[in-house]
Amino acid sequence: MSYTALEDRYENGMRYVRCGNSGVLLPAVSLGFWHNFGGVDSYQRSMEITHYAFDHGIVHFDLANNYGPPYGSAEETMGRLMDDSFRPYRDELFISSKAGYDMWQGPYGNWGSRKYMMASLDQSLKRMHLDYVDLFYSHRYDPDTPLEETLQALVDIVRQGKALYVGISRWPLEATRFAIEYLRDAHVPLLIYQGRLNMLDRAPMDEGILDLLEQEKVGFISFSPLAQGLLTDRYLNGIPQDSRMRREHFLKSSMLTDALLHKLRTWNSEAQTKGQTLAEMALRWILQQKAVTSVLVGASSVQQLDKNLKAITLDS
Ligand SMILES: NC(=O)c1ccc[n+]([C@@H]2O[C@H](COP(=O)([O-])OP(=O)(O)OC[C@H]3O[C@@H](n4cnc5c(N)ncnc54)[C@H](OP(=O)(O)O)[C@@H]3O)[C@@H](O)[C@H]2O)c1
Repeated sequence: MSYTALEDRYENGMRYVRCGNSGVLLPAVSLGFWHNFGGVDSYQRSMEITHYAFDHGIVHFDLANNYGPPYGSAEETMGRLMDDSFRPYRDELFISSKAGYDMWQGPYGNWGSRKYMMASLDQSLKRMHLDYVDLFYSHRYDPDTPLEETLQALVDIVRQGKALYVGISRWPLEATRFAIEYLRDAHVPLLIYQGRLNMLDRAPMDEGILDLLEQEKVGFISFSPLAQGLLTDRYLNGIPQDSRMRREHFLKSSMLTDALLHKLRTWNSEAQTKGQTLAEMALRWILQQKAVTSVLVGASSVQQLDKNLKAITLDS
């Protein structure tokens, strides 16, 4: 299927938000490849979702070395998509990847060593058929590797031209403060922090991460903004057969307690009173918080993405 992007893709209501005090604008809604883009998933559907996204101004795709399953296969899907659809639009796309979780066997395939970070990005670029990523993250804080080692690897990756910007994900407050200073001194400023912020999990707010980022003028992107689907109408009346919760892996049915269901139903009624859906209310709530640049949604269908995009157009 040959693809030509819609002419009016930047006139569909997407907002672009400056990421901290950098030169980069990110779409208020970005698309993540954690689920639904692996080797086990339909490539046809991956195409439909990414085409729809790009046609509606979602120019930021977020990946990591081990997204799949199997590990690495979401990046391979991105590589196929580059070849089949997006090569002519490379300069309109902002593509990120990460290293930090288990990726390959042995002592060099996990955590935050220079050895792992450098090798992992080289592998990611091959899988994605890219010369460089726009953004490369340390996917998690490593308590056993000196922070200087991980951060210097990020600096050197930028100097080698393999990434344009760097980010960190899920780092604790004091380590984040250290990273901001270290990277600023090295003239490779921290572009963005990726953390989980949603109506059910306010940790980055409670822990002072958002205050720090606002003060230091660093961007924030919220992953799992819909709490993996809990903050939508997906589970209000049972657990659908084709849902993430049915797979009982990252989202377990034991989480869906009576108390949580009650809370979700109350929020759903509140949203309806305002003429919104629960998903729209949840995304808008995040976008209204300080330091937030973008919400990083997942979607298993074009219809879900379409519904989630309404959260932005309502804002304007
Ligand atoms: N840095 C990190 O450590 C980290 C961790 C996790 C995620 N991430 C990033 O964040 C991205 C998003 O994470 P996520 O997929 O958990 O995000 P999410 O947006 O909270 O959840 C997406 C899931 O919610 C359901 N959904 C979405 N919109 C819906 C709608 N309108 N109506 C009903 N159901 C809807 C779908 O589940 P069904 O499959 O059931 O249809 C969809 O797959 C990832 O792809 C990844 O890029 C990063």
